Amino acid sequence: MLDWTELAGLRVIRRMAEIINRRWNLGVGFADAQGALIETPEVVRFATRRPLCELLKGSPEGQARCQRTAHQMLDHHGASGQPEGASCLTCHAGLAEMYVPVAVEGEPQGLILAGGFFRREALEDQIEAVLTRVADLPLAQAEVRRACRETPVLSAEAEAFLADVLELVVREMLVFREEVARKERRLDRLTRELAERSSYHQIIGKSQPMRELYRLMDKVAATDSTVLVTGENGTGKELVARAVHFNSARKDKPFVVQNCSAFNDNLLDSELFGHARGAFTGAVGTKKGLFEVADGGTFFLDEVGDMSPTLQVKLLRILQEGTFIPVGSTQTRQVDVRIIAATNRDLHAMVEAGQFREDLYYRLHVISIHLPSLRDRRDDIPHLVEHFLAKRSQPGKRHRLAAACLQRLMDYHWPGNIRELENEIERLVVLRGEDEEIGEEFLSPRIRYEIYATTEAARDQAPSLPDAVERLERTMILDHLKRARWNKTKAAESLGISRRNLIRKVQAYQLDRRAKLRNPT
Ligand SMILES: Nc1ncnc2c1ncn2[C@@H]1O[C@H](COP(=O)(O)OP(=O)(O)OP(=O)(O)O)[C@@H](O)[C@H]1O
Ligand SMILES: [Mg+2]
Repeated sequence: MLDWTELAGLRVIRRMAEIINRRWNLGVGFADAQGALIETPEVVRFATRRPLCELLKGSPEGQARCQRTAHQMLDHHGASGQPEGASCLTCHAGLAEMYVPVAVEGEPQGLILAGGFFRREALEDQIEAVLTRVADLPLAQAEVRRACRETPVLSAEAEAFLADVLELVVREMLVFREEVARKERRLDRLTRELAERSSYHQIIGKSQPMRELYRLMDKVAATDSTVLVTGENGTGKELVARAVHFNSARKDKPFVVQNCSAFNDNLLDSELFGHARGAFTGAVGTKKGLFEVADGGTFFLDEVGDMSPTLQVKLLRILQEGTFIPVGSTQTRQVDVRIIAATNRDLHAMVEAGQFREDLYYRLHVISIHLPSLRDRRDDIPHLVEHFLAKRSQPGKRHRLAAACLQRLMDYHWPGNIRELENEIERLVVLRGEDEEIGEEFLSPRIRYEIYATTEAARDQAPSLPDAVERLERTMILDHLKRARWNKTKAAESLGISRRNLIRKVQAYQLDRRAKLRNPT
C-alpha cells in the first residue's frame, strides 16, 4: 500500500505542486484506493482556494456529488484498464478535472489530481453549463457566476503540459516507492540472516532443531543454573557447554573440563577437590582441586553418568551447598562454580536401575539441553561439510564434493554424528590430496554401501531386498576389482570369497574388464 502522506513529503512532489500552483493557480490533491480525498495537513497544503468548489461543497448534496466525481475517476480507470496516464473528465458541476491513477503491481492505489478549471475554448458556454448543472442546488446564481470568474482557465497546450507534469509526479512516486520496497526487502533479508546466524559462531547449523537449540542456549547462558547436556556421541555436547560459558557473565573466568570416566575414584577425587599434604602416598604438597580452579567460572563435568557412587555424593554436596572438603583435609571450602554436566547415557534409566543417585539426577537436571542427532537435522549436513572442508583444506586450496558424494553423506545414518562426519571429511581431504573434486568412490565403505536409507521418505523409494543386495554386491565387486587392478585372485581375497565364486559373479554382472570398457557404467 502507498503511504500518500509520506509521498507528499517528497521534495520532488512538493516542487511540482508549487509549479502547478504558480503557473496555473491549480492545487494538487490525492485520493486513496477507495476514491476518498486525503485530507492530511501534508497533502492539504497543496490545495488552492477553489471558490466554485467551496461554494458547491457548502451543501451536503453538493459534497456528495463531488465525492461521486472522485469515484467516477476510479471507476473510469478500472473499466478502461488503461495503463497509468493522465485523463480528464468533467465534474458534476461542469469543471475539468485532470487526474492520473496510480497502481502498484496492477493494484490500484488511488489518484493524483489537479482540477477544477475551465478550458479556454467556448468559455462562456462552459459557464452557462455550470449554471444549468447546479440549478437544483440551493445557490444564488450571481454567486455561482462570480465563483466561475475566479476559476482558472487553461489552454489546450497548458492542459497537455499539466498532464505531463502530473504523469511525471506519479513516475517519481513509483520510483521512490520501489526504492523503499527494495530497501525494506534488503532489511528483511538482513534481519532474517542475522536471526539465523546466532551468536554461536563455532556451532554450524541453521536447521529448525538447531535454531531451537540456540534459543534455549540464549536463555541458559543468561542464568547461573546447573545444566545437563544430553545427546548421542559426537553431537557437540562439549561445544555447546563451552558456548554457554563464553556467552555467560562468567566468560572471563575459567572454563574447566573434567571427564568423569577418565580416572579411577581416588585420582578423580583429588583432581576435583584437591588434597592436603600427605593425604595419600605421593601427595607431597597441597594441591588445589579443579573446583577451586574453576571458582567464579564454569565447571564442565563430562560423562557424568560414569561417576562412582562416592563421587556422586560429593558432587551433590557441591551442588547443594557450594562446599567441598579436599582429600585428607578437615576444612570445608566454599566455591562459586556453575556446573554443566554432560552425558550420552540415559541418566533417568540409570536412576531407575539404581546406578545413579536420584537426588543428584534432579540437581543436575534443573535445565536440560538435548542435542539433536545429525540424522534429525540432515539439512545441516551440506553446511557442516563446507565448514569442515574449509577447516581441513590447505590454504589456497579448496576441495569440493561431487553431488553424488554429498548425497551419500546426506543419506547415511551417522551413528557417530558430527564427530564421525568431521573425521570422514578429514579422511576425504587426505585421500584426495591435490585433486579438488571428491567423488563418492572415496567415501568409507560403511557410508558408501549403506543402501538402506534411514529416512522415511527415502525408505518408501528403497529397492526391494533382492535388488538392494544385488546392487551392493555389484558395487562392491567392481570397487574391489578396480582397487586390485583387475587381479581376480586379490579381489576375491579382499572380498572374502573364493576366486571361482568371484568369476561366476563377474560374469553374472558382466563386470569383466573388457565388458566394462565397452559399456562403462
Ligand atoms: N554444530 C556443530 N558445528 C560444528 N562443529 C561441531 C558441531 N557439533 C559438534 N562439532 C564438532 O564435532 C566434534 C565433536 O563435538 P563434541 O566433542 O562437542 O561432541 P560430544 O557430544 O561431546 O561428543 P562425545 O559424546 O563423544 O563426548 C568436535 O570437533 C566439535 O567441534
Ligand atoms: Mg564430549
